Amino acid sequence: MPATACARANVALVKYWGKRPGPLNLPAVGSLSLTLAGLEATASVGPRAAGAPAFMSAGQAVEGTAARRMEAFLERLREFAPGAPPLAVEVGIGFPVGAGLASSAAIFCATAAAGLSALGLSRDRRELSRLARQGSGSAARSVFGGLVEWHRGRRPDGEDSFAEPLAGGDNWPLAMAVAVIEHGPKAIPSRDAMEHVAQTSPFFEAWIAGQDADLAAARQAVGAHDLTALGTIAEQNCLRMHATCFAARPPVMYWRPGSLAVIDEIRRLRAEGVAAWFTMDAGPQVKALCLENDLEVIATRLATVPGVQAVLRARSGAGVEMIEGAPPWS
Ligand code: PMV
Repeated sequence: MPATACARANVALVKYWGKRPGPLNLPAVGSLSLTLAGLEATASVGPRAAGAPAFMSAGQAVEGTAARRMEAFLERLREFAPGAPPLAVEVGIGFPVGAGLASSAAIFCATAAAGLSALGLSRDRRELSRLARQGSGSAARSVFGGLVEWHRGRRPDGEDSFAEPLAGGDNWPLAMAVAVIEHGPKAIPSRDAMEHVAQTSPFFEAWIAGQDADLAAARQAVGAHDLTALGTIAEQNCLRMHATCFAARPPVMYWRPGSLAVIDEIRRLRAEGVAAWFTMDAGPQVKALCLENDLEVIATRLATVPGVQAVLRARSGAGVEMIEGAPPWS
């Protein structure tokens, strides 16, 4: 029964920010992302021994909200196999957790794949994406490699809210340099921030209203392999998302002085002719979108910026893979 899967983090270029009501974790907007090699999580799922924790990470029992969320997700998986024993998951993760590097996307995606495999179930990747979404929204996108679009969908049952690889995204050697400003968990988890911002930010409606145009422009840029167009949309979309946060009451501020210094440096690089565009998520880290060939130059420069603790180098990566056990997808 034990099964192990590996999934990578993804970083959105057009952000998921806002939910529709209900328990199915349905997004208020579509989104588009790049899956990253190297930012990996593995999840091993098997039966839960009596008295043992349901969620272990790096050899330690996870407690609190994160544990409750994972337990609920494991129960959700078990609903597909009536009579199966309770499940436990052991997660291994090789990058900073809870700091705006989408660790939850990699963790829940790997857990969904390993869980289905452990239960002996078979589902296509689209269904896996719908399931992963229920653990963490952005996990829906980590099912696939490279450039991925997660469709918002309209149906209340969430059947039309899944991710899939983006047309024209193949054979485009994209990469990201990730400037880590702060290790350690973020001040406000994205899930809580999203809800608070939706309820209190006067800019939230405008954010939602602008998303379809950004998605259409990003799709077109991907189809044409136009990095300038994609990077420009990514920066504008990121700034609009963070503007909703700044305007919330009380405000949500993920930015640190180091974040702004990295953004300045990316703009300077661009003025010098190096193709790099920034994006930020629910944390202070700044990611520079670029071509593989420019990754080293950009990463080396960002490492010199005051406030930068480390720079991770990530190329476009593959979707979820099985390490042990039969793949649940057909
Ligand atoms: O999947 P969640 O609930 O951790 O939300 C992710 C939200 C952002 O990272 C800020 C944006 C995105 O699309 O990944």
